[in-house]
Amino acid sequence: MDKDRIITAMSTKEDEDQTLRPTTLSQYIGQTDIKEMLDIYIKAALKREEALDHMLLYGPPGLGKTTLAQIVAHELNVNIKITSGPAIERSGDLAAVLSSLEPGDVLFIDEIHRLPRFVEEVLYAAMEDYVLDIVIGKDHESRSIRIDLPPFTLIGATTRFGDLSAPLRDRFGVVFRLNYYDVEDLEKIVRRTSGVYQNQIDEDAVISLAKRSRGTPRIANRLFRRVRDFAEIIGDGIITKEITDHALTKLGIDHNGLDHTDYRYLKAIVDKFDGGPVGIETIAASISEEMITVEDVYEPYLLMEGYIKRTARGRMATEKTYQALGIKYYKGIFDK
Ligand code: ADE
Repeated sequence: MDKDRIITAMSTKEDEDQTLRPTTLSQYIGQTDIKEMLDIYIKAALKREEALDHMLLYGPPGLGKTTLAQIVAHELNVNIKITSGPAIERSGDLAAVLSSLEPGDVLFIDEIHRLPRFVEEVLYAAMEDYVLDIVIGKDHESRSIRIDLPPFTLIGATTRFGDLSAPLRDRFGVVFRLNYYDVEDLEKIVRRTSGVYQNQIDEDAVISLAKRSRGTPRIANRLFRRVRDFAEIIGDGIITKEITDHALTKLGIDHNGLDHTDYRYLKAIVDKFDGGPVGIETIAASISEEMITVEDVYEPYLLMEGYIKRTARGRMATEKTYQALGIKYYKGIFDK
């Protein structure tokens, strides 16, 4: 299961380590375009003494959406309240958090695509006019009351942009898509982490870790912690390339940064479905996983790295997958 996977991008308790989170925009590595724009928007909001526009961050898990929201609040010198779509079950939950905000504060809603629809509807007026419309009482005794809210900034985060309703999407003045990090940026993150944890790491170990982190800082930091354990117990504390490679092999991660879950998925396409095209529901069922997990967690990195292709008729394995599996690749004469 995905939660047992060392290289899942999904968050675990250990990933919440606040000491690693950068607090200012200048400490935040990568996502250069977003940082440049954010810097301007933040300065403009501060200059006008207004709340920053509502902002939507979307992209695969583990790329730093929560971190970015915390940085925005820090740079604006305001408080941040953090909640998530599934945590807000009733409109009262939303009313409670909204009415606790002070002028200019940031409200961060993670997994905002999972907000119940009737809660979303309360959010519209809050976002647009800074008011809270709530219905009190039941049936013919019910009436609606309106409460003024201070100006605030909603930062929504989602891994599934397409699942957001159009009216909600349209209410964000700023929309940023976070991309996977390149190896160079991940190297910088690994070096920064070694500094924060005060663990010495050799340069070739930095590269080896960065290359196997699937473009994801959360994974780079998690692998760092595991490799550090090996260095402290079987070595003298210094993270060398030898220890890194040994630890990662023990953790079941190969030189491509792929693990048994990736191979199980890729093998299913190649062995059971002749390389595809095959629908995602069919693949998910064949490996006993939920479709959403396959789509949001397993596939994005494999797609980006070119192991699979998405076609109108389903997923297809590429030559790179056949190479990784050590199977000869025959491009069909009809090239399906
Ligand atoms: N830790 C996790 N993500 C980071 C980033 N983008 N920059 C710096 N440190 C990080």
